[in-house]
Amino acid sequence: MTNRTVVVSNRVAPIDEGRTAAGGLAVAVLAALRRSGGIWFGWSGEVVASPGETVHLTERGRLATATVDLGEDDYEAYYNGFANATLWPLFHYRVDLVDFDRANYAGYRRVNAHFARKLAGLLGPDDLIWVHDYHLIPLGEELRRLGIGNRIGFFLHTPLPPRELLATLPMHRELMRCLAFFDLVGVQTERDRVRLCGYLAGEADALLEERDGGASVRAFGREFRVEAHPIGIDAAHVERSAAGTANIRDVERLRVSLADRRLIVGVDRLDYSKGLPQRFDAFAHLLRARPGNRNRVSLMQIAPPTRGGVAEYSEIRRTLDTLAGHVNGEFADVDWVPIRYLNRSFSRRTLFGFLRLARVGLVTPLRDGMNLVAMEYLASQPPDDPGALVLSRFAGAAQYLPDALIVNPYDVEGVAEAIQAALAMPLGERRERWERSMRVLRSNSVEAWYERFLARLAGG
Ligand code: G6P
Repeated sequence: MTNRTVVVSNRVAPIDEGRTAAGGLAVAVLAALRRSGGIWFGWSGEVVASPGETVHLTERGRLATATVDLGEDDYEAYYNGFANATLWPLFHYRVDLVDFDRANYAGYRRVNAHFARKLAGLLGPDDLIWVHDYHLIPLGEELRRLGIGNRIGFFLHTPLPPRELLATLPMHRELMRCLAFFDLVGVQTERDRVRLCGYLAGEADALLEERDGGASVRAFGREFRVEAHPIGIDAAHVERSAAGTANIRDVERLRVSLADRRLIVGVDRLDYSKGLPQRFDAFAHLLRARPGNRNRVSLMQIAPPTRGGVAEYSEIRRTLDTLAGHVNGEFADVDWVPIRYLNRSFSRRTLFGFLRLARVGLVTPLRDGMNLVAMEYLASQPPDDPGALVLSRFAGAAQYLPDALIVNPYDVEGVAEAIQAALAMPLGERRERWERSMRVLRSNSVEAWYERFLARLAGG
């Protein structure tokens, strides 16, 4: 790869290895960018009274980060507002939670225009620009407006809902038109790609030509490509890292505290898209319907709170506090608590250690772009005695991991049965399923994802 890569995303992860990282996007991008070298541009994570024009630059070998602060009003309208109270619920099919507010949309456009101006000053003529996620859909258009002629790609990490849902957004055409200013638009799964093409054909009279494993699109007076590029993980790194976690203090404490009980584990940002209330209900159903599991299994749910400035997030937190309290109140014994519910984050290595100890990985989002925790659970398992993954059919990952126990997360009894099947699964079957899943993960690494996307972007 000769061209320099410039990655743009709302959140820029700390570039020091081992720090806690907040979500799929940051983890994937950091792993890949560290290899290829380049610039990572985005929000500093700071909200300040008067943000000024400063770009904060940090260099670490071949990787540099360039970040800008946000003013309070912009943070409210762009991050808490249009990105996380409008687009996030909409893209996760939750029209009931969408906040339709034009002032927030104006703030979203304002921040995208500001990012474009700051970024433009850092660009060289041959840089490949790769914009990530729903926060920055208008960035391509804003860069073009400034005369940037570089190749610009966009990748959406979330799901994309069907046309009828997208059309509930008052400014859906204006927003979706922004996609036409990118050269390549990538989504997680083939189904997301078909939905995007369905939108473009139905709402924008697009001319679509299916070729080279994607669609060439003519719409809004422009031409661009729409392709599915499923993201992966660095499986070898996770495997190595997880194998060396037995002596980490928290991992050791967890192991000792379990005694000979089995562990079921969930690790998710505290988000309504993750299906946590249904998950707790399913676990309670398991304890009710199969009392032999009482005092024999524990569910540890790690759920660090995020986006506390958005009302729905405080609400889901309250719901879960109550629910965990109820389940524990109903079933706990003097020496056992059924749900260990932790509203905090851990380092990635410690998490891998927790995942490795768990006989069952529970990944049951109501809707999810891909879900990398499902993959990390698998890659963390001890090869001679791997656990089993219970995975929602509505996570993108389910389309690539048919050897997981695939469930409908709304079907509380069905999820409870799948947990029971996972707990009872004989070693031979666990190994076979795990090996087949690992073949998928190893062949679609995050590095392969990254290089494939950039090669398509550069190739024209
Ligand atoms: C998801 C999104 C990312 C986001 C992450 C964490 O994975 O796709 O774009 O960065 O969640 O959310 P936060 O709001 O804390 O950045």
